[in-house]
Amino acid sequence: MALNRRLKFGFTVAAALIQFVILFTLKKYKNSILPKPDNHVQFYQKPENVQWINELPMQERKKLVHLLHTQEVPWKPDVTKVAQYRAELGQCCNASVQLVLTKENVPLGSNITYVNGNAKVAVKADLIELLPKISPFSHSRYKHCAVVGNSGILRQSRCGQEIDLADLVVRFNLPPLMFPEDTGTKTTLMTINPSILKEKFHFLQKEWDLFVDALNPYVNAVFLIPAFTHPDNEGMAYRALYTMEAMGLGKKVFFLNPKYQRSLTDYWRGERSWSPRLSSGFIFINMALEFCQHITLYGFWPFSRDLDGQAVSYHYYDDALPSDTAHNMSTEFSHYLHLYSQKVLFFRYGKCI
Ligand SMILES: *[C@@H]1O[C@H](CO)[C@@H](O)[C@H](O)[C@H]1NC(C)=O
Ligand SMILES: *[C@@H]1O[C@H](CO)[C@@H](O)[C@H](O)[C@H]1NC(C)=O
Ligand SMILES: *[C@@H]1O[C@H](CO)[C@@H](O)[C@H](O)[C@H]1NC(C)=O
Repeated sequence: MALNRRLKFGFTVAAALIQFVILFTLKKYKNSILPKPDNHVQFYQKPENVQWINELPMQERKKLVHLLHTQEVPWKPDVTKVAQYRAELGQCCNASVQLVLTKENVPLGSNITYVNGNAKVAVKADLIELLPKISPFSHSRYKHCAVVGNSGILRQSRCGQEIDLADLVVRFNLPPLMFPEDTGTKTTLMTINPSILKEKFHFLQKEWDLFVDALNPYVNAVFLIPAFTHPDNEGMAYRALYTMEAMGLGKKVFFLNPKYQRSLTDYWRGERSWSPRLSSGFIFINMALEFCQHITLYGFWPFSRDLDGQAVSYHYYDDALPSDTAHNMSTEFSHYLHLYSQKVLFFRYGKCI
């Protein structure tokens, strides 16, 4: 009896062991056994807000597919539609006058309302001293504009030459230019967000060298700092400005006007509800809609895979994942697709030929 029980026990243990080995092996090879998530392209977003291309509304999926099939067809803007956006955005938002803070649009004694919340700050003489008299963008008109996002989709794109041919090249957050054949090097306008000052340059408390090194490839650009998004960011923005003054770049640094950001939010709210604040990509594409005849977007791809299922890094220059989830990338991306389908701008997805 006891022997029988012991045998039974031994058998159970052996079965459990075999099961364990099978499960372990299966787990190890799971990735090669499972089919690839074909065309399932995941948005970089908050985890609870995961979205796949297959979950995009049918119309948007169609636009996306159309977009990819027409990449190699010569593209021409619909000038009427472009003029319509220029007029509408000029009326609501007026980038020529309102894009950056000036002595004119925030006179002494007026208040600046931050983008986030309703907090205000009174405009004092020390701020006025830092502002230009009139906007440097008051007569901005460009033929070809390239708005260059930082997505990993730029890698191997060979778009550098095409980007450098544009009359206005906008870039974001001081990306290292280590792949000039993919990204180009020309930069007319560079934004420097508070989030990048915090994360990459440690609030600019001390390591200015890092910041100076990152600025060095861009000394010919004009810089825009969204200093008035939130009261906490202001000190950092001033430290950035002082560092840049020390480099002789002071005259080329401007503060983004929160009023411009708010008026854009109101303009786009008309079509869809819009929860968090606009990304700088979205803001400067809107600026381009007022200033440019022919706009091409590069490096905008909010998905972790391309349409062939290949992984795409969030940035072309590092392995970082998005940390700032304050933006509604899926809504913004839908707007880009819509503008593309209206022939208002060209959206570059893959390689430049
Ligand atoms: C922008 O504002 C300026 C100054 O108020 C005005 O002269 C100009 O016509 C405005 N632009 C548009 C497109 O409304
Ligand atoms: C600025 O804000 C303060 C405090 O809210 C208010 O008392 C003042 O009237 C405002 N000034 C202007 C010019 O709106
Ligand atoms: C983005 O905006 C859409 C509406 O356009 C909304 O349904 C969605 O919840 C928003 N996403 C986030 C993360 O707020």
